[in-house]
Amino acid sequence: MKNKFLYSHNLIMIVQILIFSSIRYNKIACYPLGASPTNPKTLGYIKKSCASTLYPNICYESLSRYESTVKSNPRTLALTALSVAFNNTNSALKFLKNMQKINPGEVGSLSECVEEVGDSVYELHRSLSRLNHSERGYNFVVQMSDVQTWVSAALTDDDTCIDDFNVSGKTKIVVRGLILRIARLASVALAFINNYAGV
Ligand SMILES: *[C@@H]1O[C@H](CO)[C@@H](O)[C@H](O)[C@H]1NC(C)=O
Ligand SMILES: *[C@@H]1O[C@H](CO)[C@@H](O)[C@H](O)[C@H]1NC(C)=O
Ligand SMILES: *[C@@H]1O[C@H](CO)[C@@H](O)[C@H](O)[C@H]1NC(C)=O
Repeated sequence: MKNKFLYSHNLIMIVQILIFSSIRYNKIACYPLGASPTNPKTLGYIKKSCASTLYPNICYESLSRYESTVKSNPRTLALTALSVAFNNTNSALKFLKNMQKINPGEVGSLSECVEEVGDSVYELHRSLSRLNHSERGYNFVVQMSDVQTWVSAALTDDDTCIDDFNVSGKTKIVVRGLILRIARLASVALAFINNYAGV
């Protein structure tokens, strides 16, 4: 019992540290030494684009640091958002697998999530590869349609994990927060892919 409490407590702390450090990292990356962003015009592009998604805050928080790569290019914006979603989903999967190891008591319920988030990683990976190698012209519409289908599937996998996750208490809060975050990142990527595909 005591071990279990300590485990949950440590877990919450780790997540808080992760969240806190990622916020600090973003602040530092965007506004070095409190100065204004280097290129307000392109940062404005990311901000404006994020405002059109369902999750403007998480969008801007996760993408503003790629200002110099994205510039004002819809294709690069979609690719970067998808890459961010993929990387975060991949990390979430590793985190869940570790949790499974540390806390075998909850394996039954976690293992479904591990499977679903694993599927999500797979879908996002092939989307990323297809989008990165896509070109305008012949087959563009088909390629974009594949990417849209696969990212939607990833989003569904994330949602299924949240819906099916049948564990109470702090573990649930942690896992829910983690999966909500990757689902939102996938949703943001999908919005930018739709926008690029329709341009
Ligand atoms: C995702 O991770 C890969 C491998 O670590 C890295 O090369 C890439 O830059 C990351 N993507 C983003 C958008 O940070
Ligand atoms: C896209 O492909 C190029 C070369 O094929 C590679 O260098 C780059 O890292 C890829 N970008 C992403 C976001 O996967
Ligand atoms: C959740 O788990 C409990 C036992 O741990 C079980 O009785 C219940 O049916 C499960 N609910 C769902 C929706 O799987």
